[in-house]
Amino acid sequence: MTAVLFTCAGQRVDIVSAFGQAGARTIATDANPLAPALYHADERELVPRVDDPAYVPRLAELVRTHDVGLVVPLTDLDQELLASSRDALAPAVVLLPDPAVCEALGDKWLAHLLFEERGIASPPTWLAGELPADPPYPLLVKARVGFGSRHIYRAANREELDFFLKFTPVPSMVQSVCRGEEFSIDVFCDLDGRCLNAIPRTMIESKGGESIKGRTIKDWELIEVGRSVAETLRLVGPANIQCFREPDGTHPITDINPRFGGAFPLPTAAGSRYPELAIAIANGERPEPRVGEFREGVVMTRFFSHLTLAAGSGGTLEPFSEDLPEPIV
Ligand SMILES: Nc1ncnc2c1ncn2[C@@H]1O[C@H](COP(=O)(O)OP(=O)(O)O)[C@@H](O)[C@H]1O
Ligand SMILES: [Mg+2]
Repeated sequence: MTAVLFTCAGQRVDIVSAFGQAGARTIATDANPLAPALYHADERELVPRVDDPAYVPRLAELVRTHDVGLVVPLTDLDQELLASSRDALAPAVVLLPDPAVCEALGDKWLAHLLFEERGIASPPTWLAGELPADPPYPLLVKARVGFGSRHIYRAANREELDFFLKFTPVPSMVQSVCRGEEFSIDVFCDLDGRCLNAIPRTMIESKGGESIKGRTIKDWELIEVGRSVAETLRLVGPANIQCFREPDGTHPITDINPRFGGAFPLPTAAGSRYPELAIAIANGERPEPRVGEFREGVVMTRFFSHLTLAAGSGGTLEPFSEDLPEPIV
């Protein structure tokens, strides 16, 4: 049985449970004992914060004690760090692309430069001091290191742009507003950056940057965008690629997260079998690509769930109800 260690497990009960159902022994880690996903794993381990120098050594120790075969980060907080700590975490496979790619994808300005360098469509983007004399409004003032749609402001003219550039509390860039429909593509690549599948979905409704309602679509143009972008960047493991379909037929990429997307249950329900693929790769297998093989028209609508805990022996928190609410994956 392959042991899979999840970092920053947080609320990703859906992912931890899906790996369990795929046959993995799951080890969830987090710095916060109230992270719900901890209590849905076979083992839970509290770890130092990501910025603590003891973080990677502690994960390496857990790799040894639990005989971990695969490390899967679940947030954007430790991707670059884990990607550059492969040696320390060996023999576990770290399901991430190169550290330089992780670093670029974690900063939307660096990502834009990387996309341009690799010939990937990206909306026209500038640093505040480098704007052309007559830029095309509306423009977005957008956080370079952002998530969950935080710190994105729309400026209709020069006056508003100057205001938002002063107003925003975080380092930002300026980006053209895309006018078409927004799509999200959940891809999965092997350790050689070969895309095994790409599953596009519509964004019926989002809340705070997270897709809460969506539908899988078998749109071959989007599938090909996902596959080619993933392989051009040599992504490894799961990634969520966000793009717009513009009136001129281009598909500029606005955001890529090299991890399972917030809408993970949707591609899973559509038959992605990404957890099974991840486990196979950890075991040295080389699954064949099945790009475009998934069920279209699957709709996801998300809701809140909960967990109750009570003090256990030894000062730990333990699930209170005897029957843990089973997530639907
Ligand atoms: N260039 C753009 N044009 C239009 N809408 C955008 C653009 N960039 C971002 N958005 C909107 O803002 C949301 C969040 O932006 P995104 O780049 O995905 O950052 P993050 O998800 O990291 O907060 C997107 O899902 C999209 O709806
Ligand atoms: Mg996004």
